[in-house]
Amino acid sequence: MIRVENITHNYANGDKVLNDLSFAIGQGEKVSLVGANGCGKTTLLKILNGLIVPTGGRYYFKDTQITPKTLRQTALAGPFRKNAVLLFQNPDSMIFNPTVFDEIAFGPRQFELDHIDERVRHWANQVGITRQLDRPPVELSKGEKQKVCLAAVLVLEPELLLLDEPTASLDPRSTGWLVEFLGDTDMTTLAATHNLGLAAEMGTRSLVLSEHHELIFDGTMESLLKDTDKLIEANLVHVHRHKHGDVEHRHYHIHDWE
Ligand SMILES: Nc1ncnc2c1ncn2[C@@H]1O[C@H](COP(=O)(O)OP(=O)(O)OP(=O)(O)O)[C@@H](O)[C@H]1O
Ligand SMILES: [Mg+2]
Repeated sequence: MIRVENITHNYANGDKVLNDLSFAIGQGEKVSLVGANGCGKTTLLKILNGLIVPTGGRYYFKDTQITPKTLRQTALAGPFRKNAVLLFQNPDSMIFNPTVFDEIAFGPRQFELDHIDERVRHWANQVGITRQLDRPPVELSKGEKQKVCLAAVLVLEPELLLLDEPTASLDPRSTGWLVEFLGDTDMTTLAATHNLGLAAEMGTRSLVLSEHHELIFDGTMESLLKDTDKLIEANLVHVHRHKHGDVEHRHYHIHDWE
């Protein structure tokens, strides 16, 4: 589905935020992208969505190299834009329509899909925001906004779904729904998180970025969870003090804080 070859990225201030990444993701794979704050997860997802042009390396979506030039060619850019969609980390950066309905309908209208009303209502119902369809999205709670954004990407039924911390504002029931949805869908998914528990729920394979912005692990989730050294290197485990009876000590934990 996608192939990344030696991708490197520097923002304008010059700091390298992705360092020589290479990997491929096959059709239907469920992959978690894990790494500590600032390691480059969002930057990588934006590159895979065509929003950022990497300073070095090549990116192929279904054998088409995605470059500024291909993105200007409607015949290539259209299918790419419809089929490689990104759920943003911050819902506020996606929302701009007057109503929730319009927000979800925006993509389908853009791509001239049929049965738009039906599609919008179906996905609003799936994520549980049917009652908010006529409201201005800016008024909604953060979790409700995240659901609107989720519906707005799912309504496109893309081949590649890129998710950036998708459950950050969701309550347990909605998180459970999303985890099950991702498990059942045929879509290829790549979900970024720094939460190992969620990473294990959202992918059978894991890509790990280090704080040096390098890909330090590409393998099964199962083998990652057993690799404590790798988890420490990626800053994905935490140390804290706790007591066993009268004895107090510190050791690594991979369980989540939430
Ligand atoms: N537009 C920008 N200009 C300059 N530096 C940026 C920009 N966006 C991100 N960065 C920097 O690039 C690095 C990687 O950021 P990125 O948002 O990709 O990390 P992340 O892994 O998604 O982190 P988090 O877990 O906090 O979401 C960070 O050091 C960040 O400060
Ligand atoms: Mg991020």
